[in-house]
Amino acid sequence: MDVRGRTVVITGASRGLGAGVAHAMHAAGMRVAVCARTTPALPEGERVLARQLDVADAEAVARLAEAAGERFGAIDLWINNAGVLGPIAPLRSVSAEAFDEHVRINLHGVFHGTRAFVHHVRQREGEGVLLNISSGAARRPYHGWSAYCASKAAVDRLTECVALEERAAGLRAHAVAPGVIDTDMQAMIRASTAENFAEVERFRARKREGRFATAEHVAQGLLALAFDPKARADEVIVTLPEPPASTPGSAR
Ligand SMILES: NC(=O)c1ccc[n+]([C@@H]2O[C@H](COP(=O)([O-])OP(=O)(O)OC[C@H]3O[C@@H](n4cnc5c(N)ncnc54)[C@H](OP(=O)(O)O)[C@@H]3O)[C@@H](O)[C@H]2O)c1
Repeated sequence: MDVRGRTVVITGASRGLGAGVAHAMHAAGMRVAVCARTTPALPEGERVLARQLDVADAEAVARLAEAAGERFGAIDLWINNAGVLGPIAPLRSVSAEAFDEHVRINLHGVFHGTRAFVHHVRQREGEGVLLNISSGAARRPYHGWSAYCASKAAVDRLTECVALEERAAGLRAHAVAPGVIDTDMQAMIRASTAENFAEVERFRARKREGRFATAEHVAQGLLALAFDPKARADEVIVTLPEPPASTPGSAR
């Protein structure tokens, strides 16, 4: 699949999955706009636009879309990847402030990116693909992850709504559970206690066995979903296939 010259925006690309996907898509010849609160993994360059911003800041996200459009023209693919997992604890111990902060990033951040991209697609000719990074935790409860499960379930439903609303305007939207990738987020899971997260041992065992998807594998899955007619899914809610034998290794 030739994706050279296509443009992608990736939020949350300073480390972890977003950074790995940004590297892979840039290496495939795409023009890439990346952002994070700290320094994005790709430096500014001929095919790279890099911005430091908080996805909870609606105006900053709208400016990112504008800048990417001005620099590269039509944005073909927008990936709302930025996200946090914590607080990890039973809901009774989660403060209102921590819950607010979580939702500000995981839900409002996805809303801001989605809205900016919808407006971009409506201002130009041609199809746009929106991939909102969700999680298996959107689709079943985890003891100790009430904020994360709730925000990712909301991302799934938000994506289904926008898919309905914008299909006729040329936007295809999916909420994608990417699999398990060994990032800082996974390290945070393994560092929690059984009191705060009942399934912690299962995640520690996965680390011992090295059962992870790589960011490269996820990037190929996202590209196929976006651009390969044979891999297109009719469903809005998607789970990426696991690698044939989950590969030891970590995302950047
Ligand atoms: N790892 C997994 O196994 C897994 C499984 C299912 C779903 N996911 C989802 O995949 C996505 C990436 O996760 P990850 O594992 O790569 O996590 P990670 O290693 O913690 O990286 C998160 C990324 O998001 C950025 N970010 C966080 N808050 C932000 C904000 N307010 N504004 C802008 N950027 C922000 C971080 O950069 P800064 O801190 O520099 O802002 C970082 O680049 C998340 O949506 C996560 O829920 C991950």
